[in-house]
Amino acid sequence: MRDESPAGREERRRSVLVTGASTGIGAAIAQAFAEIGDRVAVHYSSNAEGAQRVVAGLPGTGHVIVRGDMGDAEQARAVVTDAIELIGSLDVVVNNAGIAPTPETVHDVATADYTDWIDSWRSFVDVNLLGTANVTWAAARQMIDQQAGGRIVNVGSRGAFVGEPAHPAYGASKAAVHAFGQSMAIALAPYGIAVTSVAPGFVATERQETTLAGSRGEGLRAQSPFGRVGTAREIASAVVYLASADAEWCSGAVVDLNGASYLRT
Ligand SMILES: NC(=O)c1ccc[n+]([C@@H]2O[C@H](COP(=O)([O-])OP(=O)(O)OC[C@H]3O[C@@H](n4cnc5c(N)ncnc54)[C@H](OP(=O)(O)O)[C@@H]3O)[C@@H](O)[C@H]2O)c1
Repeated sequence: MRDESPAGREERRRSVLVTGASTGIGAAIAQAFAEIGDRVAVHYSSNAEGAQRVVAGLPGTGHVIVRGDMGDAEQARAVVTDAIELIGSLDVVVNNAGIAPTPETVHDVATADYTDWIDSWRSFVDVNLLGTANVTWAAARQMIDQQAGGRIVNVGSRGAFVGEPAHPAYGASKAAVHAFGQSMAIALAPYGIAVTSVAPGFVATERQETTLAGSRGEGLRAQSPFGRVGTAREIASAVVYLASADAEWCSGAVVDLNGASYLRT
């Protein structure tokens, strides 16, 4: 019989680190884990107010905030060690933090000058790929030491498959995140740690509100035969499943979350 006493429930609570949870998809993921009773470390880089707002809105107790720039190897590791210190252990990590493609980060090969080109590649790779790799290293070592298995879910992108002509470094960094997750799925399976990635299509986050309301909105909604874009909640629900005990056999998968807007063969 399940132990439904407060002590029994407390024992089943997992410790979850969600990177880039100060807004958007990460905030929805933090919310979804807290709703099922887990204790969440909400990570942010520059948006302290956003992180505080997210934590204040989470159901349950014991949630914490950690900070660090994923583009800095030492800070990425410290995000994990700080989270462990504050929440006591680590069962699930969601590598969601990332620099997204925006008008400010365009680096079109035909128009970007060489300095902008180099800077763009450096920042997308440092944050999206190396941040994910470094957080994974620190988290995996903790999970291995705990000897209780674990789950790592990476937030990749449909852009890895469809191409990102105006933001090639973004597309390449997300393709690398998917490939990295697959290598980790094999390396960490002997420790009971399952590693997966999700590849969302266009998602209606705060950041995308103006775009969706503007002249591009209709075209973006028309990408999917459902006639709409995805929601952060839909991404969060898939991540929660992939982090569940039942999802061990998904390890190595890259899960498309794009409303049939792009079908991989
Ligand atoms: N929205 C979409 O349509 C979409 C589609 C496919 C994939 N994705 C992926 O989903 C993830 C979340 O996207 P989103 O739309 O929710 O983006 P968002 O609202 O811009 O949130 C990005 C998060 O990443 C954090 N971050 C950015 N740069 C960082 C850095 N150098 N170090 C540490 N953290 C950093 C931000 O923290 P601060 O704000 O605190 O600095 C923020 O919490 C990203 O990996 C993105 O590539 C999004």
